[in-house]
Amino acid sequence: MAEEYGFGNPEIIEEEVDILIIGGGMASCGAAFEIGRWLEKVPDLKVKLVDKAALDRSGAVAQGLSAINTYLGENDPADYVRYVRGDLMGITREDLVFDVGRHVDDSVHHFEEWGLPIWKQKGDESKKLTEGGKPVRSGRWQIMINGESYKWIVAEAAKKALGIDRIDERVFIVRLVTDKNDPTRVAGAAGFSVRENKLFIYKFKSCLLAAGGAVNVFRPRSIGEGTGRAWYPVWNAGSTYAMAAECGAELTLMENRFVPARFKDGYGPVGAWFLLFKAQAMNAFGEDYQTKNYGILKDNKYDSYADGMKMGTCLRNHLMMKEMREGRGPILMDTPSAMAKLAETMTPKEVKHLEAEAWEDFLDMTIAQCGVWAGENIEPDKEMSELMPTEPYLLGSHAGCAGIWCSGPDDIPGTPDYYHWGYNRMTTVKGLFTAGDGVGASGHKFSSGSHAEGRIAAKAMVKYALDNKDWKPEMSRTVDELVEEIYRPVKTFLEHKDYTTAIDVNPHYITPKMLQFRLQKIMDEYVAGIATWYQTNAKMLEIAEKKLVMIREDAQKMRAKDLHELLRAWENYHRILAAEAHMRHIQFREETRYPGYYYRTDFLDLDDDNWKCFVNSTYNRDTGEWNLKKVAYKQLIKHGEGEPEGLARDGSPV
Ligand code: FAD
Ligand code: ADX
Repeated sequence: MAEEYGFGNPEIIEEEVDILIIGGGMASCGAAFEIGRWLEKVPDLKVKLVDKAALDRSGAVAQGLSAINTYLGENDPADYVRYVRGDLMGITREDLVFDVGRHVDDSVHHFEEWGLPIWKQKGDESKKLTEGGKPVRSGRWQIMINGESYKWIVAEAAKKALGIDRIDERVFIVRLVTDKNDPTRVAGAAGFSVRENKLFIYKFKSCLLAAGGAVNVFRPRSIGEGTGRAWYPVWNAGSTYAMAAECGAELTLMENRFVPARFKDGYGPVGAWFLLFKAQAMNAFGEDYQTKNYGILKDNKYDSYADGMKMGTCLRNHLMMKEMREGRGPILMDTPSAMAKLAETMTPKEVKHLEAEAWEDFLDMTIAQCGVWAGENIEPDKEMSELMPTEPYLLGSHAGCAGIWCSGPDDIPGTPDYYHWGYNRMTTVKGLFTAGDGVGASGHKFSSGSHAEGRIAAKAMVKYALDNKDWKPEMSRTVDELVEEIYRPVKTFLEHKDYTTAIDVNPHYITPKMLQFRLQKIMDEYVAGIATWYQTNAKMLEIAEKKLVMIREDAQKMRAKDLHELLRAWENYHRILAAEAHMRHIQFREETRYPGYYYRTDFLDLDDDNWKCFVNSTYNRDTGEWNLKKVAYKQLIKHGEGEPEGLARDGSPV
């Protein structure tokens, strides 16, 4: 009977390595590249990289990108820290941000070396960045690329560095396992192949957990025929946060989220339009809502993080949402005026090129938006396009900073001990490292910064592996227990499938799809999703808490009728834990720190006196309990000229 559904007893593959890399995205490719260099020096170092998908097109860069959003060039890393902390409303781990800032350009230089076309200013077309070629900047930190094949290029370098034999593709990691003799140390990971009936158990000295952020935790705007369309990649299901939490790692700022303002329905990016093409967004009456609404920032003390019209991403959202909530939507991006203005000084050939660039911005990374334009007969030089704030995402590398609490570098003056307790980018669990979306309190790394951070973590992991040369990992759980747990949804299905005649309707199990709808409904309606215009309060969160505890229990009853559903089941399990962390952090932080991302309507003010601090949490897998606490923020980089006052209030500037 089991074989009928493609499941016999799974083949068990056990492997012991020094370093395991979980994920094959930007951070992991950075780690692979860096470790490749160490393999030359330490040839007996055993390494494995495991990705739930195929490296060439996995993760957030799968479709390609049209810009590299973090390239410092002539900028000072201290200014990069000022920009990131301003955008993230004052609270960031400045040591981690600075560390990315000082290393990121080297990754970008490698991308160009490996074949990524980077736009150059007139006259510099044939010069590489390292030869003094000046990039076309869309903003102070962003440079334009022809990036449709960005991930291919970066993955190829990672594959070359490690060698194909050190890479397992299409293996989904379900959980980490602590060491038998030391519960504060990680010793293994378990997962399964999404293509074959195989289970993988890895034992290791250290592990990089870099499985991206969390998507589809909230009910998306795209439903019905649009289902499946989201801004961040749907295959990043909160595995990073859930597996870290279950292993005992401390999380930080999980209350933070990212709500990108995007071209409606296709989720097309706005950066190039705002920054490169200098387009204006307006309300239904043609008003510049940003200028019009600027004054409201004062009402709840949000203005302490805005500097004239320079303000962070969430504040820009805040000004836009007021218009929509009060019925002055839709918000429109004035693409025709922007293009006409640019065309004023252009030859007809250059105008044609400009039109091509407008399309290419989407074709390079969000092809669906071209589908919307083509399908709705929108010519951007003739017709405006609608903008819309999307459903929330949890991530730590884009304009958000949810993630894991990590040890930072040891060479930045003024760094307190609680920012640095050992190896760089190691979490509070010994041997467990993270990078990219995994590292909390340090957003705005984007693709390049995530790659650089993977390299930083990899270096520290090699050191950790060498420092612990004689240590042998022993897992606290047996292989049989892990197999039993991972294949439980299959067993549930096989045991109960004949109870009813309709395969999806059964009192003994729930399909992963149904469970996902239930989770999304809870998050949407009670935890500040689109249904309530991103608003919540203590009472709503109390209801959410009850429902989330119940769904966590019911998740044990998910069925899997094939390997695809087994994947969906475990993705949902990870989503639930990421969702719960998010909810509990929002519940704990009694202020509105990120207006435009979410609102605590019972604490609408930004409250620096009580809440200019990190919120950190730990989860106890045995009891199901969460523990939350405040952790002091320390300012390491002094207040810059023109930086809003709110940022200068505490810390001892160095
Ligand atoms: P990812 O690159 O997402 O990698 C996560 C990896 O983990 C994937 O390989 C995935 O398959 C794997 N994985 C997930 N779960 C598991 C599991 N359980 N087991 C095994 N493997 C798993 N940045 C820019 O610089 N410029 C831009 O213009 C830009 N635009 C963007 C546009 C879009 C639409 C998106 C989605 C992102 C954009 N970014 C941009 C941001 C950038 O892509 C991310 O910052 C970066 O990819 C994060 O790197 P990461 O390694 O943390 O995660
Ligand atoms: S992308 O990752 O999908 O390309 P997006 O297009 O929003 O994101 O932004 C790209 C970059 O431009 C990011 O660094 C973002 O912070 C910045 N950006 C986008 N819109 C604005 C704006 N109106 N003002 C300043 N910076 C912006």
